Amino acid sequence: MTSGSATDPAHAHHDPAPSHHDPAHGRAASPAVSAGSAGLAHVDTAIWTRGLTKRYGARRAVDHLDLQVPRGALSGFVGPNGAGKSTTLRMLLGLIRPSAGHGHVLGEPITEPDRYLHRVGAMIEGPTFHPGLSGRRNLDQLAVLRGIGGWHRARRQRRVEEVLGQVGLGERADDRFSTYSLGMKQRLGIAAALLPDPCLLILDEPTNGLDPAGIREIRALLGQLAGGGMTIFVSSHLLTEVEQICDHLVMINGGRMLFQGHVTDLLAAEDPRILMIPEHDGDARRLAGLLGDKGLRVEIDLRTGPPNASATRGRLPVVTAHAPEGLAAHLNRLAMHAGITLRSLRTHRPNLEETFLRVTGEIDGDLVRTAQAGQAPDGSVPPPAGAGLDPAHSRGGAT
Ligand SMILES: Nc1ncnc2c1ncn2[C@@H]1O[C@H](COP(=O)(O)OP(=O)(O)OP(=O)(O)O)[C@@H](O)[C@H]1O
Ligand SMILES: [Mg+2]
Repeated sequence: MTSGSATDPAHAHHDPAPSHHDPAHGRAASPAVSAGSAGLAHVDTAIWTRGLTKRYGARRAVDHLDLQVPRGALSGFVGPNGAGKSTTLRMLLGLIRPSAGHGHVLGEPITEPDRYLHRVGAMIEGPTFHPGLSGRRNLDQLAVLRGIGGWHRARRQRRVEEVLGQVGLGERADDRFSTYSLGMKQRLGIAAALLPDPCLLILDEPTNGLDPAGIREIRALLGQLAGGGMTIFVSSHLLTEVEQICDHLVMINGGRMLFQGHVTDLLAAEDPRILMIPEHDGDARRLAGLLGDKGLRVEIDLRTGPPNASATRGRLPVVTAHAPEGLAAHLNRLAMHAGITLRSLRTHRPNLEETFLRVTGEIDGDLVRTAQAGQAPDGSVPPPAGAGLDPAHSRGGAT
């Protein structure tokens, strides 16, 4: 955690103290710019690339990415391990040079990072801090290096206190960095990225390796920062994680774009279902036929029953109809009129992950796991054996 460079892309460059005024700084969220809108899209979006490509030998780590992250968005950058997330972020921060393609960050070309890096906060590869110094001292040293507050010590210290407060580390600021929990270390890293009061925050897997409580803290922090009008581009290999906070998503795999847009656009493609378990197993096929005759797409699936379901052989046939929940009562009546009693009836609205996997067809052994089908204690049937990005992909450090 204390090795490698992070938190300060500006270190990679000589910063010539740009003289141009920054009208975008601190502005509130602006509406998304549609992909087709005019030639000014690169100015109106926080991040805009066309054909962005990075080759390592014959392999394309990033393959013709056309990114468009609206200003003011809290955008999740999602993809499995090795998808090309870190490589993309490094190109955006001017840390590595693209093999092909071009792009703009905050309206400035990525070929000239000095023109925008002073307005960008970044944390790549986890934070780098001196373990023997307190959180406050670490931040103060970084602030000196970056010229935060000019030569005014009081101004610099004020800024350090502000960011410590923002990330909720005020009370532990005098403790040594080495005594911090992983979550606190990550939050200090974000505090460091916030020092220059950036209008764009780029974070590479800030929740990597954190426990659920630590993940919740980071999530809350990002929500709070985004609420203040900052554009945030945050990578994760876990879709379920960003799904809960991001309003915009960029999903890549194998260096290529899978989906880009607002979460609501993706959810519009969702596939709601109604799951029914007949009291008598033998009725499942008849129920499926009945619903199929009404024009519904229907599947029969076997699920493990509750442990105390002595009346069954342990496996329950679940009839799944692809229909909105508004039809549930109607389907119940149809079954009843046909003399079929339902042991359980439940509606299921797919989450973003399931919708995404269905829309993109990205369901393979590498990307997903198959959830254990079972029955909830209340007797309701859980969603169909869902696909999920493999939690086993979690590992110690982003690359
Ligand atoms: N310096 C490099 N030299 C050669 N190959 C590289 C280099 N950096 C990255 N790669 C390769 O590029 C691909 C994308 O890597 P990258 O680190 O960008 O993925 P990622 O999405 O950040 O993955 P993770 O979730 O594991 O952090 C991988 O196949 C990786 O091995
Ligand atoms: Mg990475």
